[in-house]
Amino acid sequence: MSEGAYKPGLEGVPATRSNISFIDGNQGILEYRGIGIEQLTAHSTFIETAYLLIFGALPTASELKEFDETIRIHRRVKYRIRDMIKCFPESGHPMDALQTCVAGLGLFYPISDFNDDYVHGTVVRLLAKFPTLVAAFHQMRQGNDPIDPRDDLDHASNFLYMMTGRVPKPWEARIFDVCLILHAEHTVNASTFSTLVTSSTLADPYTAIAAAVGTLSGSLHGGANEQVMQMLRKIGTVANARPYVEESLARKERIMGVGHRVYKIKDPRAEVLHKLAEDLFDRLGHDKTYDIAIEVEAVCEELLGAKGIYPNVDFYSGLVYTKLGIPEDVFTPVFAIARVAGWLAHWREQLSNNRLFRPTQEYTGERNVDYVPLSERGE
Ligand code: ACO
Repeated sequence: MSEGAYKPGLEGVPATRSNISFIDGNQGILEYRGIGIEQLTAHSTFIETAYLLIFGALPTASELKEFDETIRIHRRVKYRIRDMIKCFPESGHPMDALQTCVAGLGLFYPISDFNDDYVHGTVVRLLAKFPTLVAAFHQMRQGNDPIDPRDDLDHASNFLYMMTGRVPKPWEARIFDVCLILHAEHTVNASTFSTLVTSSTLADPYTAIAAAVGTLSGSLHGGANEQVMQMLRKIGTVANARPYVEESLARKERIMGVGHRVYKIKDPRAEVLHKLAEDLFDRLGHDKTYDIAIEVEAVCEELLGAKGIYPNVDFYSGLVYTKLGIPEDVFTPVFAIARVAGWLAHWREQLSNNRLFRPTQEYTGERNVDYVPLSERGE
């Protein structure tokens, strides 16, 4: 590779060959294993989609039944992990709690070798336990005992139940499940790249996934939907939406939840989420935050559409999660509950053709510098 090839942030540099997901940012296409997310969100479930992503094909009815049942019985976490969570500070961020727990799981499931049983067991455990860990920390930081998972509830219902203590209505659970499908995978972004780099050292998968959770926690990656909610609250009224957007743009500030490095039209995930939010607010009653969001989208389309800046996945997800009773600092952990499917798919793909990541650098420092003894250095 030539010395001049350095690209900050590796923008546009292929880091791997993958057949897991496909994006076309100009046409607004996102496919998992070739299937458009519109079809998956209309017909599939998160558990079936996770199977598709991780194992490469839609499961048969018996494969899906077995996968789903195995995940249900692996939801519980060991009492020592619960004891560990009890020691976390209540004010700690739920993403830090999740990352610590995931790394901690590695202590209990040491690597034997990467045979099919180990890989399958890891996939099941991580998909099953992520929601339990997130909900357990959320309950314990409020001084409550964690709510035990219920085997009779599907993945989405069980998580919402552990978070709120209330079994959600089937349509609420379905909306949440669709959100999980939409967040399950998105090619090689920063957290997935972390998974690849750590997996390539043949570190255990809990370490690789804990690295991905840490990477997702940063505000440039997983945190924009929290900022959208803050922005909508700050705008305060529908009438204030236009002046807020105009004044922010005049000050060269960003409008949260719009724009995307890849999508130059409305993010296909935002299209689906917009309809979900509409359905949810129609059923549970409109509030002004939703109406403000609709107005902000209209004003942004008018003022920023020509630049290819449209709502991204984060524009509507915060509204949906808030209405479902999920607190703002749990939005990113919810993202992780979904994205662990994509990370696991990339972990398997990396192992199938592994080569240690070892990029190079352009050295910009001095050379041949003499060591100066401490006594001769001055203050
Ligand atoms: N509001 C206002 N203007 C914007 C926005 C925005 N949200 N996004 C981009 N622009 C403008 C820039 O000011 C710039 O204008 P200029 O050419 O006149 O200087 C132009 O669009 C290009 O901006 P870049 O920064 O080069 O675009 P990039 O592709 O790097 O931006 C990003 C992508 C970082 C997501 C950006 O759109 C942004 O900051 N959005 C708000 C934060 C957000 O919603 N993030 C979530 C992304 S989705 C996800 O991570 C799951």
